[in-house]
Amino acid sequence: METVLITVDKKVDKEKIYSQAVDLLNQGEVVAFPTETVYGLGAVATDDEAVKKIYEAKGRPSDNPLIVHIGTIEEVSDYVEEVPEKAKKLMERFWPGPLTLIMKAKPDVLAKSVMAGLPTVGIRMPDHEVALELLRTLKKPLAAPSANRSGKPSPTKAEHVYEDLKGRIPLILDGGTTGIGIESTVLDVTVDPPVILRPGGVTKEMLEAEIGEVAAPSLKEQQLESTPKAPGMKYTHYAPEAPVYLIERNREKIEKTVRELQNKGHRVALLAPSNYASIPADYFFPFGEEGDRKQMAANLYDALRACDKTDATIILATTTSTEGVGAAIMNRLHKAAGGKFI
Ligand code: TXA
Ligand code: MG
Repeated sequence: METVLITVDKKVDKEKIYSQAVDLLNQGEVVAFPTETVYGLGAVATDDEAVKKIYEAKGRPSDNPLIVHIGTIEEVSDYVEEVPEKAKKLMERFWPGPLTLIMKAKPDVLAKSVMAGLPTVGIRMPDHEVALELLRTLKKPLAAPSANRSGKPSPTKAEHVYEDLKGRIPLILDGGTTGIGIESTVLDVTVDPPVILRPGGVTKEMLEAEIGEVAAPSLKEQQLESTPKAPGMKYTHYAPEAPVYLIERNREKIEKTVRELQNKGHRVALLAPSNYASIPADYFFPFGEEGDRKQMAANLYDALRACDKTDATIILATTTSTEGVGAAIMNRLHKAAGGKFI
């Protein structure tokens, strides 16, 4: 299959592009599109055959449910039994935006493979012009996981999608680099207090300011949990080919570690804030300015992917605090490193 990549910017005929994408989706095909977090791979969420193509293209285990994307808040009640009061508040405050709410699904409305056998469904309204325009032209919900091959870092650029899925999907809408860079917060509102199943751009602090207590497992608890509630969290994730080790932001320690590894014959890629560029690693990929966690989130996956284009044999990535969006960054770094620290 030929994969077409179309840039959606001010100069092009948007109407024609959206109608091309909508036609493909209505024919039961999959289309990749940008959201404010990462690129998604969408299929009409009520079409089981189409949704199965997502799993196939990604190589995704079939027990890992997909997030349903909608274009208006009102649609939520078409797909869930009941919208809890706290969920209503959160939608009004954070939608469109990087917050996925897990609620009880109405039976027999969405395709079975969206929920992967669970009685619940995750729904979000993305905050991206291209995603919203696509949803509003389509007038149907889109099931969409991140548009990467399963296990790889999520795509923050259309090129990342192309690298992973060329030949496997017919169309990628290129809306440039995504702003947030890590996936949405997944919050289970079927329980009280609600539980964060995956930390993301909407932080625990932001949620609590709106609805009071929110539970969030610590990094340790996340690792120990044998049956994670978000099935996706149990798989290896966000991992480049070479092994990743986490290291604290201590210049001397990093320099010493790089030297020791090189002496053992390793080629070292260092992922760190830009002011560490002078450390003589074999490859350096900046996370942005030191202390700027927004930049770190936005650059993380691109940096992890860049390592795969080098012959580095080991990757060192510096850590950050778990405050605010730092919780989401550390969650992804932990997964990429399989919990390994130096
Ligand atoms: O930002 C995002 O959320 C991106 C963009 C494309 O919207 N999507 C995304 O989807 O990250 P995906 O499939 O890569 O991750 C969805 C996560 C998985 O960990 C999955 O297990 C969890 O959400 N999830 C989905 N439905 C669920 C449910 N009913 N119960 C518990 N966890 C669920
Ligand atoms: Mg994903």
